[in-house]
Amino acid sequence: MLRTLMAAGLLTSIAFAAAQVNVYSHRHYAADKQLFETFEKKTGIKVNVVKAKADELIKRLESEGENSPADILITADAARLHLAKSKGLLQSVDSAFLNATVPAKLRDRDGRWFALTKRARIIVYNKDTIDPGELSTYEALTEEKFRKKILIRKSSNVYNQSLLASIIANDGEEAARKWAEGMVRNFARTPRGNDRDQMKAVAAGFGDIAVVNTYYVGKLLNSRKINEVAVGKKMGVFFPNQEGRGTHINISGAGVVKHSPNKDNAVALLEFLLSQEAQRVFARANYEYPVNPEVAPSKLLQSWGAFKEDDLPLNKLGENNAEAVQIFNEAGWR
Ligand SMILES: [Fe+2]
Repeated sequence: MLRTLMAAGLLTSIAFAAAQVNVYSHRHYAADKQLFETFEKKTGIKVNVVKAKADELIKRLESEGENSPADILITADAARLHLAKSKGLLQSVDSAFLNATVPAKLRDRDGRWFALTKRARIIVYNKDTIDPGELSTYEALTEEKFRKKILIRKSSNVYNQSLLASIIANDGEEAARKWAEGMVRNFARTPRGNDRDQMKAVAAGFGDIAVVNTYYVGKLLNSRKINEVAVGKKMGVFFPNQEGRGTHINISGAGVVKHSPNKDNAVALLEFLLSQEAQRVFARANYEYPVNPEVAPSKLLQSWGAFKEDDLPLNKLGENNAEAVQIFNEAGWR
């Protein structure tokens, strides 16, 4: 209904007077704030935001239970959304607009979460030392020729857990175990730091290749710190597994909370966040790929070229998470 009203230009604050929606968000971007304000102006629905780390928000939802004021949970990584779902914290939403707009692999099969933005976990390399012709797949990073050249963060990080979960789903458990062991053998150093730190280490010569989320390259290139811009410029961007299943992708996303006191408003906000207008703001703001197929990615992302995505339904990332964690531990990937 929201969309019809928007299209007709009839959406006024009168329809939703004194209405509100309570958001628990792990995202901390200015763009999100801007979008909430736009939504408030369009609908008269006040958006109240609680910001915290994903684990804290999930704990809080668990302890608040039926008394939770939360309507929407927003967090990064499909595995975290799956965790919230598996704890019974999210409810099913059946929205014709969301179902038509969010590709099936980017939403929960039971409608308990939907992608808002999309990112790829890619290979970046030092353009001075690596010929991209040497690169091909995630699996090939375990080859002997990359000994002591690979930088990647700790296995406690959910992005890596989801990457390994996708390898379990695509190649099977044994191949996933071999991959984790082979990566550990090829580490340039014991994992530490975040994705940006891996690229800084590549630029400083500690290794030649890193595995990172796409938006961190954008963040470096657009940093206010000139040394970070220099690191970004040294990086070549490579989308792995293009000849096969495609590059691993993940999302930030949102779901309506189980005991949401303002469910209609929550669904209206979700629909707004997937609208072309909001998706254009997301696309500009954080160097992520829009989820709405009608909206083009930013110029920077377009400059890296189109790429083939792994079509694995992202439910699998959560479903294989525990196994991924176990394989990492057994492989000695700390
Ligand atoms: Fe991140």
